[in-house]
Amino acid sequence: MTPSLTSLGAAPAVPAAWPQTLPPDLLAGLDVPTPFLAGDLGLVADRFHRFGAALPRVRPHYAVKCNSAPEVLRTVHAVGGGFEIASLGELHMLLDVGVDPAGVLYSNTVKPASHVAAAADAGLWRFSADSEGELHKIAREAPGSAVYIRVRVDDSGSVFPLSRKFGAEAHHARALLHEAERLGLQPYGLTFHVGSQCVATSAWRQALAAVARLMRQLQRDGIRLEMLDIGGGFPARYGDPVPTIDQIGEVVEKSLDELLPYQPPLVVAEPGRHMVAETAVMVTTVLGREERAGEEWLYVDVGAYNGFMETQQSVGQWRFPLWSSRADHDVVEQVAFTVTGPSCDSSDTMFYGAALPVTMAEGDRLFIASAGAYTLSYASSFNGFPPPATWYRRSR
Ligand SMILES: Cc1ncc(COP(=O)(O)O)c(C=O)c1O
Repeated sequence: MTPSLTSLGAAPAVPAAWPQTLPPDLLAGLDVPTPFLAGDLGLVADRFHRFGAALPRVRPHYAVKCNSAPEVLRTVHAVGGGFEIASLGELHMLLDVGVDPAGVLYSNTVKPASHVAAAADAGLWRFSADSEGELHKIAREAPGSAVYIRVRVDDSGSVFPLSRKFGAEAHHARALLHEAERLGLQPYGLTFHVGSQCVATSAWRQALAAVARLMRQLQRDGIRLEMLDIGGGFPARYGDPVPTIDQIGEVVEKSLDELLPYQPPLVVAEPGRHMVAETAVMVTTVLGREERAGEEWLYVDVGAYNGFMETQQSVGQWRFPLWSSRADHDVVEQVAFTVTGPSCDSSDTMFYGAALPVTMAEGDRLFIASAGAYTLSYASSFNGFPPPATWYRRSR
C-alpha cells in the first residue's frame, strides 16, 4: 500500500528528537487513522547497499519473518537481495512479488512435512536441518535436495538468544552432513545464528572459529562446503548505541580470511532486524491518561498484542526512542510514564519509566521509532484491535 496523497492533512510537526535516519517529511500528508507504521523504502534500499559495502563477500538473504510488507519485499528484490523463509506461507508472499523460489533459503530447522514438499515442488532446493528426524523428512518430501546444518553457537551477546531451541553441537553437525549424504541429499553447507540483536562483535568471530574447526574436520572426511550461512543477528539502533555494520563487517571479513581453511563458493547471511527496524516509525494516539497508585499511565492505541510483542520478550532490555506530537515537547518537564496498549490485558504494557512531557493528554500522538522490525509480523487482532496499517513510501 502506498500513502493516499488525496487524504492530505496537516503534517504533524517534526519534533527535534526525530531520528536522523528518517526523512523529515515522512509523515507529510499522512492524515490517516492511527495506529499506523510509516516507513521509507529508500532507507531499506540504503541498508542493503551499506551491508554490501561492509561485507562485500557476504550475500544478504533477507529474513522475511522480520517485516513481510510487500513493498519491503519488492524493494529487497529490486536491490538484488536474496530471501530466507520460515514457512510455506512466507514462500507464497515471495511468489506474490515475483521472487524465484530457486534462490530462496528455507532456514527453519523443523518444518511441517507438507511445507517441505510444496516448497520443493515450487522449485526451492536448499533446506536447513539440525536433527536426524528433519533429514529423513527432507529426504522423503524433497529427495535429492541440498541441506545445510545449523550449528549451535554462543548467543549470550544477544537480546534474543536462539540456541536453546535450534542448532546441533559441532560433532553432531558433522555426523548430520554424513547422514545427509547417506540419505541421497547434498551435504551443502553450515549455518549459525548468533542471536537476534547481537551487540558483541566477538560473537561472529567465535562462531566462525567454531565453524572453521568443523570445516577442517569435514574436509578430512571428504566433504567441502558449497555454502556458509552466517545467519542474522545484526543489531539495529534503538535507545542505546550498538556496533555499526562497518564494525561488524570488519570482524566478519577478517575472520573469514583468517580462520576458514578454504573459502566456500557462497557465503550468505540472513539479516532481518538490521535491514528494516530503523526504516519506520509507529504512530499512535493517546486514548487516556490515568494516575494509578502514584504511577502515571498512558493508554495508547497500539500495544504488545497489535505490534510490540517484542517488548514482552525483553522487558526492560532495550528502549525504543519515543517522542510526542506536543508543541511543548522540548520545553516542559518530562516525567516517567508507564505506556500500555488498548486491550483489557495488563501484559499489553510496552514501556516502563518512559520519559515524556508532563502535559501528555488524550488525543496527543506518541511516535515510536525503530519500529520496522518484528512489529507488524507479530501483530494480532486481540480484543478487536487490529494490526496497524502500513504506509511505506520512497523518499529517494
Ligand atoms: C533462521 C533465522 N534467520 C534469520 C533470522 C533473522 O534474525 P535477525 O532479525 O536477528 O537478523 C532469524 C530470526 O529469528 C532466524 O530464525
